Amino acid sequence: MIEIKNSYGLHASTLPNKEGLFGEFGGKITHPELAKALDELEAGFHEIIKEDDFIAEMKRLRETYVGRPSPIYHAKRLSEHCGGAQIYLKREDLNHTGAHKINHCLGEVLLAKKLGKKKVIAETGAGQHGVALATAAALMGLECEIHMGVVDIKKEHPNVSRMKILGAKLVPVSQGAGTLKEAVDSAFDAYLNDIENSMFAIGSVVGPAPYPEMVGYFQSVIGHEAREQFLKATGKLPNKVVACVGGGSNAMGMFSGFMTDADVEKIGVEPAGEGLDTPNHAATMSKGVKGEIQGFKCYVLLDEKGEPAQVHSIASGLDYPGVGPQHSHLRDSNLATYEAVTDKECLDAFMALSRLEGIIPALESSHAVAYAMKIAKDMPENEAILVNLSGRGDKDIDFVLDKVTL
Ligand SMILES: Cc1ncc(COP(=O)(O)O)c(C=O)c1O
Repeated sequence: MIEIKNSYGLHASTLPNKEGLFGEFGGKITHPELAKALDELEAGFHEIIKEDDFIAEMKRLRETYVGRPSPIYHAKRLSEHCGGAQIYLKREDLNHTGAHKINHCLGEVLLAKKLGKKKVIAETGAGQHGVALATAAALMGLECEIHMGVVDIKKEHPNVSRMKILGAKLVPVSQGAGTLKEAVDSAFDAYLNDIENSMFAIGSVVGPAPYPEMVGYFQSVIGHEAREQFLKATGKLPNKVVACVGGGSNAMGMFSGFMTDADVEKIGVEPAGEGLDTPNHAATMSKGVKGEIQGFKCYVLLDEKGEPAQVHSIASGLDYPGVGPQHSHLRDSNLATYEAVTDKECLDAFMALSRLEGIIPALESSHAVAYAMKIAKDMPENEAILVNLSGRGDKDIDFVLDKVTL
């Protein structure tokens, strides 16, 4: 367990034991050379986050560079449209670079710098983590190498251009489905070839320890801010908090603020893609089994050979066959529940939020909006749903225009 000296304290249910396990999930299932590097990273992380200058620098960058705290917004027209509960949005889309990913990237790059590394390496799906990492690396003068599937490169073109402009080296990955999982494998291989000079800066609460804990810690700022802001604005807590789940970093960030509030229901929303009764989805919690992927244990979607399956979602940042170990543990402990919405429901929510509130959400975040819209109508008007709007949808506009008729 980590002792935290600043105001972003974490609840025990979201912290690992000494083996990096959250209940039975997580761990550091990897070969000795990588395990040794990760042990060093873990020790460095636990040490550095307690240092006053690290805490002060994170605070300064969050406020003056990212624009935190991100506001809470009452989406009145969307709520009226649904009828029933009031829908509120935590506006992570307003962060510099347009998503929650900058929260952990600043922490990871600051950490890399403190550990004397020259370069950060990572994977990206929707390109938001890649852009955020390239941004943090430019800010702190480190080299940055981003691995991205060829399918995602085509789909998320604006983010690819942004990464290049920010000075990152882009490595296209064409193996397998050419999406997020293959990008993670490729980035880990590149890191193994340059362990001395580089740090692997993963993009979600996935991977071997200490990554789930580390990314969860840096993202917990979302939930802690949100709880305080919501109480101040309404005098009470929301009845439900809702966030989309790819690897699960924005959801963990939001849930962290409410872990001591048993009455606040925590709901993660996964991609049901073309339907849970088809093979084309990425609903790890709804359809997965306990297994291993990329160095840790979690719920995972496997193919007939027992390998991580090739999964599908309209949102590149959600098409991952595994999920963070914290989420696997929260689900099995009945501390959070997980639901799924389809590509079609996601697109409808994307258009509804754009047209009713003038906010174009990321396709990933649109999953959470879609689920909130679905449940709001069955809740009374004096109840509230707080949705984590994890990112903005500028990157998705050309793709969406191809899919919908206006
Ligand atoms: C805007 C946005 N939201 C959510 C996600 C999913 O990641 P996570 O589940 O780690 O929050 C992504 C991933 O790229 C993203 O870009």
